[in-house]
Amino acid sequence: MATHRPLLIIGNWKMHKTLPEASDFVAQFVAAYTPLDNLEVGLAVPYTSIAPLAQLAQDKGSPLLIGAQNMNDCSEGAFTGEVAAAMLKEAGAQFVLLGHSERRRLFGEDDAFINRKVKKAASIGLRPVLCVGETEEEYEEKKTEAVLEQQLTLGLEGIPSTELGNLVIAYEPVWAIGTGRSATPKIAEEAHAFCRSVLVKLLTKTLAKKVPILYGGSVTPSNAASLLEQEEIDGLLIGGASLSLESFLQIVDDSGKILSS
Ligand code: PGA
Repeated sequence: MATHRPLLIIGNWKMHKTLPEASDFVAQFVAAYTPLDNLEVGLAVPYTSIAPLAQLAQDKGSPLLIGAQNMNDCSEGAFTGEVAAAMLKEAGAQFVLLGHSERRRLFGEDDAFINRKVKKAASIGLRPVLCVGETEEEYEEKKTEAVLEQQLTLGLEGIPSTELGNLVIAYEPVWAIGTGRSATPKIAEEAHAFCRSVLVKLLTKTLAKKVPILYGGSVTPSNAASLLEQEEIDGLLIGGASLSLESFLQIVDDSGKILSS
C-alpha cells in the first residue's frame, strides 16, 4: 500500500474549459470535497484561468492547488506568446507541468529545454512536475528503462538537490495517454520503481525517497484505486477524467479511502 507517503492527485485540463466553466467546476469541487492532511489535490489549468481560480480557491479557504501546464525557461524577453515562471507564480500557480509528452511531441520540446525550465521553476520555488514516459514504439522495443533514465537524467541535470525539495515526477507512458489503455498496475509499478532507482543516483538519498512519482495515462474512477495501491505510485496525473466533476471527485474520494485503509 502507498500509505507510507502522502498522495498527490493532479487533474490536467489541457486546452479545455472556458473561465465560467472552470470557475463553476472549482466552486463545486471545493464545496463537495473535505481536505485531508495526507492528500494534496491540484488542477493544471489554461493560463487564462490560473489567477481567477487561484483566487477563488483562496477565497473559499480551500487548499486546492492551481497550477500551469507549461512555461518558458527565461525570466523575461522578446519571446512572443511565452509566459515566465515568475508570472505564473504571481498569478497564484503553485506548480507547473513540464515536459508533458504533448509538449515534447507536438511542440518539439527536447530534454535540454525541459531541463532549463525545471531549473528555472525550482529556482523560484514553483513546484516542477517533470513528466516522463516512453512511446508505444519504445515500449514494444523494450526501451522503457533507457528512455526513462535519459529523460530523468537530462531533465534534472545540473540542478542541486537543495533546489529540488518540491520536485514531482509524473510517469506517463505515451501509449496510455488519451487512449483508454492505461498501464496495468504491475507495469506502472515497475516503471515507478525504476524511476525511483534513477532518482537515487541523481539526488541525495533522502530526497530521492521522498519525491512523489505520479502515474498518468487513461486514469479513470475504475482503475485509480488499483494503481494507487502500488507501493511506488504516489499519486495520479489525470487528463480526460479530470474534466468531469463527478469522475474527478470520485478519484479524489477513492484516494482518501486508500490513505485511511
Ligand atoms: P489522460 O491524459 O488521462 O486523458 O490519458 C493524461 C495526461 O495527458 O496527463
